[in-house]
Amino acid sequence: MKKRPFIVANWKMNKTISECVDFVEEFLPLVSMVEDVDVALAPPFTSLTAVARALGPGRVSLAAQNMHWEESGAFTGEISPVMLRDAGCGYVIIGHSERRQYFGEGEGEVSRKVASALREGLVPILCVGETLGEREYGKTFEVVERQLRGALDGIVLESGAELVVAYEPVWAIGTGKTATPEEAQEVHHFIRGLLANIFGSESAGNTRILYGGSVKPDNAASLMGMADIDGGLVGGASLQPESFARIVKFRG
Ligand code: 13P
Repeated sequence: MKKRPFIVANWKMNKTISECVDFVEEFLPLVSMVEDVDVALAPPFTSLTAVARALGPGRVSLAAQNMHWEESGAFTGEISPVMLRDAGCGYVIIGHSERRQYFGEGEGEVSRKVASALREGLVPILCVGETLGEREYGKTFEVVERQLRGALDGIVLESGAELVVAYEPVWAIGTGKTATPEEAQEVHHFIRGLLANIFGSESAGNTRILYGGSVKPDNAASLMGMADIDGGLVGGASLQPESFARIVKFRG
């Protein structure tokens, strides 16, 4: 059975505090009638508190884009999961390809972050995905398996619902090139099988697997229609309230 879709806006390093609040004020009325989709916004750290306040106790959740794995300590410039909970986050994006690519985040760090988020009661949105070169060399499944097993090593899940996985092919991020729904579904199905192998099939059935990489209002419905695609992680098209609302309302 299809799960309730989950659509997440990843604003990356965009928007000041007032721009974030303006977005929320415009966006909420646009999606007030949507009841069968879960939504989260991931603003930059500086705007988390203001966005939490602007969202209020409604149905749109708050997510962070990254975190450190320790609760506190001498880690200049870092933000802990305790601080994210305190700021109102329910979710945290972990292992985004931009963090792996530009900030040297490796599998050890990603795995510590996933464990720490779960321990602190945050739902990790664990990102995996291959580069163009890896796809061309036929290494997509190998790379995704290595990233997923590396990140989830030693993790014990309760229901499976406390984990979200995002498949984001690096070649589709910010390029306007989307994986076709069939290409994405193939990898999502593979990820579901891996999760079943690690955690059992009941748990794997409860984990939502999002697709990310040039999701737009025009392609959202066909992607979300695939059996193992349970939602989207949206970058560029989530920056405007109108465009992100159209994605949230992909059912029309
Ligand atoms: P785009 O939607 O801009 O391709 O970004 C995808 C992404 O990286 C979301 O995390």
